[in-house]
Amino acid sequence: MEWKNKKILVTGGASFISSHLIDLLFERGTQKIRVVDNLSSGKLENIQHYIDAGKIEFHEKDLLCPGVAQEMVKDIDVVFHLAADHGGRGYVDLHQAACATNLALDGIFIKAAYDAGVEKFIFASSGCVYPNNLQTDPNESFYLTEEMVGPPYDADNTYGWAKLMAEITLKAYYKDYGMKSVSCRFFTVYGERGVENHAVMAMIARAFIKQNPFELWGTGEQIRNWTYVKDIVEGIIICAEKVDDGSAINLGTMERIKVIDAAKEVLRYTGHKAEIKLLPDKPTGPYNRVADNSLAKRILDWQPKVKFIDGLHCTIDWYYKTKNVAEVKKIFARMLTER
Ligand SMILES: NC(=O)c1ccc[n+]([C@@H]2O[C@H](COP(=O)([O-])OP(=O)(O)OC[C@H]3O[C@@H](n4cnc5c(N)ncnc54)[C@H](O)[C@@H]3O)[C@@H](O)[C@H]2O)c1
Repeated sequence: MEWKNKKILVTGGASFISSHLIDLLFERGTQKIRVVDNLSSGKLENIQHYIDAGKIEFHEKDLLCPGVAQEMVKDIDVVFHLAADHGGRGYVDLHQAACATNLALDGIFIKAAYDAGVEKFIFASSGCVYPNNLQTDPNESFYLTEEMVGPPYDADNTYGWAKLMAEITLKAYYKDYGMKSVSCRFFTVYGERGVENHAVMAMIARAFIKQNPFELWGTGEQIRNWTYVKDIVEGIIICAEKVDDGSAINLGTMERIKVIDAAKEVLRYTGHKAEIKLLPDKPTGPYNRVADNSLAKRILDWQPKVKFIDGLHCTIDWYYKTKNVAEVKKIFARMLTER
């Protein structure tokens, strides 16, 4: 796709992932981007330099307010829809009503984009659409393939159900009205600008504030495929360029990382000496969640380039360079269950 002359809207554009997406869109030649964000979890500092340079037209607005969705999609060619009421495991488990507002947000916004004649709609979906009942045994070498999302559906909390409903809605809009779209299923994204309500960032923060004992939610046996944010945003752009028919595509590495091993590496790399204390009663999510990314390899020629160990080290370096211990101590406990 020729990005230079496209009129682009990024919803939730001040977020962690969106800000990296915006960096890459500008690298690919985009001239100007419209961003709408209510700053409920997004941070203006992630994109302030672009606003100051006149490259981002920023609207601090709530997409759930009447008329905002319609106003934002006016004259837009390509929409990247990343706005969501979303947080880490502690948030999505403990804030079911708040996450359910995404059902309305996505429904209203997809219709507004269609009514405005948007050329392409790219949706930030999630590994949370996969049936929970498939992801219980950490000893199984098991990978989630796209077609495993189907009846009987068993998504992960109201957050996962809302992502699933948006995917299904987009497929219907393609079939019934021909609106082009793609749903990108991100898997546990981490990297620079990430926030402490997600597991990897929480581990780094615990080391940074020298927590001892070093607390870990769950048994530590949970398996994840943490995927580096720069790989994710490359995948999003390739999806935007190559997929039209509302398909959902996994964007995730196939590296299987045990939570306890990630924690040990954080301790080793940061030099923080502490005893690990497991908290099995805290929210943990599924015990075995890893994407199969062969569809993305086959149809997009995309696969993650950054190994977990390397991405983790870069993220730790960034965190230690940019954060302040007193500030992190102040927000840390709240962030584990909030956004
Ligand atoms: N971080 C991950 O591991 C991950 C994994 C799968 C999917 N996702 C999805 O990626 C997207 C971005 O997530 P993120 O981790 O970068 O951070 P995030 O959750 O902070 O991003 C959401 C953004 O949307 C904004 N927002 C929320 N409600 C809004 C509303 N009503 N109107 C306008 N703006 C609103 C927030 O302020 C924030 O900037 C989300 O849709 C999330 O569900 C993230």
